[in-house]
Amino acid sequence: MSALIDLRSDTVTRPSPEMRRAMMEAEVGDDVYREDPTVNRLEQRAAEILGKEAAVFVPTGTMGNTMGIKVNTHHGQEVICEARAHVMDWELAMMAWFAGCLARPIRAEDGILRWSAIQDHLRPNGPNCAGTGCIVIENTHNMAGGAVTPIDVVEEICHEAHARGLRVHMDGARIFNAATALECSAAGIARHADTVMFCLSKGLGAPAGSLLCGRAADIAQARLYRKRLGGGMRQAGVLAAAGLIALEKMPARLHEDHSNAGHLAERISRIPGLRIDPKRVETNIVIFEVATDDLTPAAVSAKLKERGVLINPVGGARLRAVTHCDVTRENCGQAAGALEEILAATGLGK
Ligand SMILES: Cc1ncc(COP(=O)(O)O)c(C=O)c1O
Repeated sequence: MSALIDLRSDTVTRPSPEMRRAMMEAEVGDDVYREDPTVNRLEQRAAEILGKEAAVFVPTGTMGNTMGIKVNTHHGQEVICEARAHVMDWELAMMAWFAGCLARPIRAEDGILRWSAIQDHLRPNGPNCAGTGCIVIENTHNMAGGAVTPIDVVEEICHEAHARGLRVHMDGARIFNAATALECSAAGIARHADTVMFCLSKGLGAPAGSLLCGRAADIAQARLYRKRLGGGMRQAGVLAAAGLIALEKMPARLHEDHSNAGHLAERISRIPGLRIDPKRVETNIVIFEVATDDLTPAAVSAKLKERGVLINPVGGARLRAVTHCDVTRENCGQAAGALEEILAATGLGK
């Protein structure tokens, strides 16, 4: 079998030779004492690039979201998020477990949470209600096919939320994909959010690490939560060194992933038995449906694997392919070719 074409996620990338070299040569110290110069530099650059006062380096996006929600809420409040949000479905109920908050999910068909939908779900503090504390915007939205929330939508949510004393956290695991699609800066997208988390270990290709950015006082508090959660990593400069390269160099190439995803979506849209609207693929995530009773998504995934292509089912009739720096245009063409072959074997389209 030829080398695998791994489209399961953009988390599967391997660090580049430049990252590996930087990791080997990294200047390090004990980061819990704030003595790791490489971590300090990464946090400073992340804050600058996201337009915030401060940033804290964390091992994972999940920890960054957990700390972000915690600093923006009080125990016993509600947190509004889109119904398929990562904080809702894929973080082991951390907002309940750590922040003591209840998720109030709102379904937005296109994955874009808008103030018009949010306002009907706000709850005031009262004798019977847990008040709303915070709104989470996921940008781009993973399970909504990498959907991008436009800046004016983010700004309206922030403006209206702040007018009511509510906080806004942005799960910007892929904020640089959003910035690429919107042709603006990540700081422009996050400007009015109270906190923003972004990942180095997804489209930016670092082996590990995320950052939570926000006001200095909130980030100082978040640093204590990081320690409570077991995220004080000591000589973490070896990871931050790769993270700095990811942050400085990798955003500039994300348009290639978007173009490859668009190409893949276009090819899939022409395969009888599969369904996708390629116009909705704006970034690096391609979610498509199996629209025939002859094959289940699990069967499609298994047959792809036999052909050296990894794409996972993600519930219902859906599969998800994610492009990243370790897959080429040619690989995406090969993946589409494998899907064509698998669906043609069912006799569809003849
Ligand atoms: C939108 C989103 N937020 C947060 C995370 C969590 O990141 P991690 O896997 O580093 O905990 C992910 C991971 O896939 C994600 O897609």
